Amino acid sequence: MDSTERITDRLTARALLLDTQHAAVDRRAAFVIPDGTVYLDGNSLGALPRAVPDAVADVTTRQWGQRLIRSWNESDWWSAPERVGNRIGELVGAGAGQLVVTDSTSTNLFKVFVAVSRMDPGRTRVLIDPDSFPTDLYVLDSAARLTGLTVEQVHPDRAADRIAEIGDELALVVYSSVDYRTGELWDLAAITQAAHRVGAFALWDLCHSAGAIDVRLDDDGADFAVGCGYKYLNGGPGAPAWIYVRTEHQERFHNPIAGWHGHARPFGMERDYDPAPSISRARSGTGPMLSLLSLEAALTAYDGLSMADVRARSLSLTGFFIECLGGLGIDLPLATPAQDGRRGSQISLRHPEAYAVVQALMVRGVIGDFREPDLIRLGFAPLYVSHAEALAAAEHLSHVLRDKEFESEGLARRATVT
Ligand SMILES: Cc1ncc(COP(=O)(O)O)c(C=O)c1O
Repeated sequence: MDSTERITDRLTARALLLDTQHAAVDRRAAFVIPDGTVYLDGNSLGALPRAVPDAVADVTTRQWGQRLIRSWNESDWWSAPERVGNRIGELVGAGAGQLVVTDSTSTNLFKVFVAVSRMDPGRTRVLIDPDSFPTDLYVLDSAARLTGLTVEQVHPDRAADRIAEIGDELALVVYSSVDYRTGELWDLAAITQAAHRVGAFALWDLCHSAGAIDVRLDDDGADFAVGCGYKYLNGGPGAPAWIYVRTEHQERFHNPIAGWHGHARPFGMERDYDPAPSISRARSGTGPMLSLLSLEAALTAYDGLSMADVRARSLSLTGFFIECLGGLGIDLPLATPAQDGRRGSQISLRHPEAYAVVQALMVRGVIGDFREPDLIRLGFAPLYVSHAEALAAAEHLSHVLRDKEFESEGLARRATVT
């Protein structure tokens, strides 16, 4: 047996052991994963939970098809945004009545930016991470043009100092708990404490955290948060997003898209807007009910799981993948911190031909994605990815690199979605 075989045998044994140790979180049977596929893109579009097709069939054929408009009451479609919001709240450490499923993350960001600008007109400055997902930056710039807020871009590791310097002109800080490109996990509790010391609010973007990290919105003092439903929460393409407004801020939260679903008496059909005295005021118009109820069904995959266990499995998967890279001699630069406490649920590797490497992996059945400028991004959704698959992915990557499979004809040609 040569040394490569010995290393592979050792890693195979470790994978087996780790899969056994973290078996409590293994919900793979609850998902549809095509044979021969190692799915490492659940941080972009979660896999299909088996509960979803049946739920959608019931919503379409019975609730909509047979019961028609009666289902708004009979199946309580009307309260689904709050009902599903409360379930997501349990996964991100938010007590009931603070989170509602509505619109897209982009739209919910807009609502918070404008609402905050109205809360204390004396505070006009906002800090945001320059490496934020672009929509956060675009929407903030647009909201700033509308409201007169001033935007300053400050990297999270300098945020606390800058917050203290700005002091009482600061209205809001906007940070993502996990960097969508590098997978770096930031200490948003510490940034939030710094914001609170000068009387400012903190908005957390949890798109890359909800469902994978044990977020504690209430305990860690977040004022507002947003997140999407289609990544680790597995709600499906275009699933609606969610917004969290801490109870104590709800009365002062004036939704700039003051639609009838956020009204205190929506069927009163009154001329003037009177916001609901609850998180419902963050709603605007009629939501995408099929997607919302798909998301509700998808969340049943989390039933009975503790987020601490989910986080432990996620860390174990990404940590083991790093171990496999080392063991197999793959020396691509890691964009993701190797330290457990600083890592989300993905591993990003740098390669000058990253796009073509991702395509070559796909040819082998390993699905990840590419992010500019040079990142191979691999997400480890803790509910359905196994340690054995982490090893298989590393082995495939080793072959792709060793045999330069990424140089094959056509692999560098970019598709619209990367
Ligand atoms: C961190 C982050 N914020 C926001 C978004 C965009 O969300 P939406 O398309 O729901 O507006 C994404 C999408 O990938 C994201 O990763």
